[in-house]
Amino acid sequence: MSDLARIGIVTMSDRASAGVYEDLSGKAIEATLGEWLASPWQKVYRLIPDDRATIERTLIDLIDAEGCSLVVTTGGTGPAPRDVTPEATEAVCEKMMPGFGELMRQVSLRSVPTAILSRQTAGLRGKGLIVNLPGKPTAIRECLEAVFPAIPYCLDLIGGAWLEGTATAPKVFRPKAK
Ligand code: MTE
Repeated sequence: MSDLARIGIVTMSDRASAGVYEDLSGKAIEATLGEWLASPWQKVYRLIPDDRATIERTLIDLIDAEGCSLVVTTGGTGPAPRDVTPEATEAVCEKMMPGFGELMRQVSLRSVPTAILSRQTAGLRGKGLIVNLPGKPTAIRECLEAVFPAIPYCLDLIGGAWLEGTATAPKVFRPKAK
């Protein structure tokens, strides 16, 4: 296990990747993790179109080649024809972690009834955890807040990097001290 956790931040968006607008969601993921992670980490950032083959290749590269323990994606989780992030995630994962999507949809439903339109999920590939977030910048903090407490222990169990939260972060829960 390395001291420096590598964390992938991947934005799936045809328009942001074409430069039509700024990738505010990717920035929000980086800002939120920056605020909540006390242990050293390094971002590995990718901004790509909603193309299934590109998404799968990117996720595989981030975990297998870049050594990311955690990959947080944003966008492409809805019902539109180009929304294929959950399919790409499932295709590259050995195990799915459906509790992440269930909890994030539940929390998001307090803000928007359309939260049920997100098919966001999570899964494991090797020593890496992939977590899908919706594409809306406002969804980032809300969704991460819900699942953040369980992420460090999940990484402990799969042999990923050691993560610790800051005093102001949603409290990290480890059932057994390491
Ligand atoms: N979750 C939160 N927290 N906030 C939101 O605004 N938008 C919903 C849903 N989940 C939303 C949310 C909507 S309108 C859609 S279509 C889906 O996420 C999928 O979004 P995506 O395709 O950008 O991933």
